[in-house]
Amino acid sequence: MLIDRYPVSQESELLSQVDWDFPERVAHSGIEGLHPYPAKFISEIPRALLEMLPLPPNTIVLDPFCGSGTTLVESQRRGMQCIGVDLNPIATLITRVKASPLPEGIEQSLVRVIDQAHRVDSVRIPTIPNLDHWFKKPIQSALAACMAAITTAEAEYQDVLRLALSSIIVRISNQDSDTRYAAVSKNVSQEDVFSGFYDSARKIVSVLSDRDYELTPAEVITSDTLELSADDIRRPVGMVITSPPYPNAYEYWLYHKYRMWWLGYDPLAVKRREIGARAHFFKRNPHTPDHFNGQMTKIFKLLRSVVAPNGYACFIIGRSKIHGRIVDNGAMIESVALAAGFNPVFKVERSISPRRKSFNLSHANIKKETLLVLHRTGHSL
Ligand SMILES: C[S@@+](CC[C@H](N)C(=O)[O-])C[C@H]1O[C@@H](n2cnc3c(N)ncnc32)[C@H](O)[C@@H]1O
Repeated sequence: MLIDRYPVSQESELLSQVDWDFPERVAHSGIEGLHPYPAKFISEIPRALLEMLPLPPNTIVLDPFCGSGTTLVESQRRGMQCIGVDLNPIATLITRVKASPLPEGIEQSLVRVIDQAHRVDSVRIPTIPNLDHWFKKPIQSALAACMAAITTAEAEYQDVLRLALSSIIVRISNQDSDTRYAAVSKNVSQEDVFSGFYDSARKIVSVLSDRDYELTPAEVITSDTLELSADDIRRPVGMVITSPPYPNAYEYWLYHKYRMWWLGYDPLAVKRREIGARAHFFKRNPHTPDHFNGQMTKIFKLLRSVVAPNGYACFIIGRSKIHGRIVDNGAMIESVALAAGFNPVFKVERSISPRRKSFNLSHANIKKETLLVLHRTGHSL
């Protein structure tokens, strides 16, 4: 762990007492493990930040790249209101489910949906590229029957049911695993689809019923954050906690491609807007580190107008390798933030656990990441 402290302050004294590698941590379980998501935070990071940094009065927590909603869950645990934004509709589906009350009657709705899915005898299979390569025909029919049955459920149940189906899609496909994108032969039957869907929904219900904290209001926005304005956020933000996407690292759209197709979203539209997606760095379409700099400049323009005086912005980010060159994204964000009126108060380089499973791009080889804590200077907005 390498700590950079800037001028000594109360915050930096406190923050430097934490072992940001969290070596004692055990694997994701419960609400953190509700649905797979690549490169998610370990919950200890937002938890420690929320415990140690004071939230200015009447402000909320914002994660402008919320992924699976770890920041929102930790904010709710501490009784703080929060907003999460993500481009990826699977991310915002996971976050909404984690941060919302369980709708009453969900179990009965699940039984009705499963029953209906079993009874469907002819169902339209959606048009999805390469479908036969990744899904056996009987599995396609069972999945389509589940989707058709879900769409007949009342609106309040849809999110939990859709998340349950999403969580089993890779398991019942020919894809080897969530972290390995290769077709293999698996012994999966239609009944495995129905029972997998049922079990997954039961698990979600059980995990969410175990939440032992009050659910503070949480807003979840599905949008390209680069397109947002201060009017979309509406409330003063006291703390930003986020791990932004960065060039050539993870492919969130690709990881969830078939989940999106099956749930009726367009993964290609997500790919086009996804910051850092590898396709943007191919020779025919060459983004450079300057693109990322421009994108983060835009993000900090937004943060400058929504973060309250004396609020904080905490960024966790790794390095990129672009056309063979290593780019220090942490240093870049620091300079962009400074220009936008945020002062760095603490920086630490932490090791990423080798156990963190992701759809890892072998060339990226990400083993370290930087936590950068910035303070919004005290003049009014
Ligand atoms: C490192 S992940 C966030 C993970 C999150 N901290 C968690 O705990 O799950 C970065 C996120 O940025 C999102 N993203 C990429 N480009 C985006 C854009 N233009 N607008 C909004 N979100 C975007 C990705 O979909 C991904 O979920």
